[in-house]
Amino acid sequence: MMEETRAGGLPAFFRLVSLDSCGSTNDEAKELARSGALEGTLVWALRQTGGRGRRGRVWTSPPGNLYCSLILRPDMPAAAAALVSFVAAIAVAEAVSALIPGRPQLKWPNDVLVDGAKISGILLESEAGAAGRLDWLVLGVGINVAHRPEGLPYAATSLAAAGAAELDVAVVLGRYASSFAAWYARFRQQGFAPVRAAWRNAAFGLGGPITVRLQDGQFEGRFIDLDAEGGLLVETGDGLRRVTAGDVFFA
Ligand code: BTN
Repeated sequence: MMEETRAGGLPAFFRLVSLDSCGSTNDEAKELARSGALEGTLVWALRQTGGRGRRGRVWTSPPGNLYCSLILRPDMPAAAAALVSFVAAIAVAEAVSALIPGRPQLKWPNDVLVDGAKISGILLESEAGAAGRLDWLVLGVGINVAHRPEGLPYAATSLAAAGAAELDVAVVLGRYASSFAAWYARFRQQGFAPVRAAWRNAAFGLGGPITVRLQDGQFEGRFIDLDAEGGLLVETGDGLRRVTAGDVFFA
């Protein structure tokens, strides 16, 4: 069942499309984007049957957690627009932070951690138009509210496990959406600098040892910084390396 509303309770930026169930909210949003849906269209499903994570992984999506995908049409080059994933990570961290006793941390590129365990995932997909300009971005966000997945190669947690009193997915969506709207406006007006500052302020493992796993191997070093283009800077025995895609692990 699909229902489109003027986003009751959400900032005016959003047009909410609510679904009971779908394959992937990212796929629903991509289809809407291709057929001309406006920036701010937000697809929210109570469950997904084909939830997708980064690098083709499965995102297990039972009812009780948050699954949403937002259509954005920023008029900027694709590389700059990709920085929206950091905006989203900060917005998720802010939303989570308001609901739990502890302070969430951010793990490059855009995981949100609580007590070192992943509570949220972000999947950004985009399509360029005829002139090579970005046509749309779909920003998919999953937050573990009631359930945490098991059997993963990394630690996972949920708002429930982290001691949140509020487990209403609609409330979590509202908090995330409000934070995102504010941070996205800041990003559009001021660029990446304030986003980068907020991200570094909450970064997990900054200054410490890090292992970076790439498509074709891995290396170790010290996590030096997030650079002004969203790259990860790692000091190694062979000098400074800049990483634009990969998974990171901390000892
Ligand atoms: C990751 O691998 O960490 C990213 C996970 C992204 C999951 C969200 S849930 C809503 C949206 N729909 C999907 O199929 N994936 C994203």
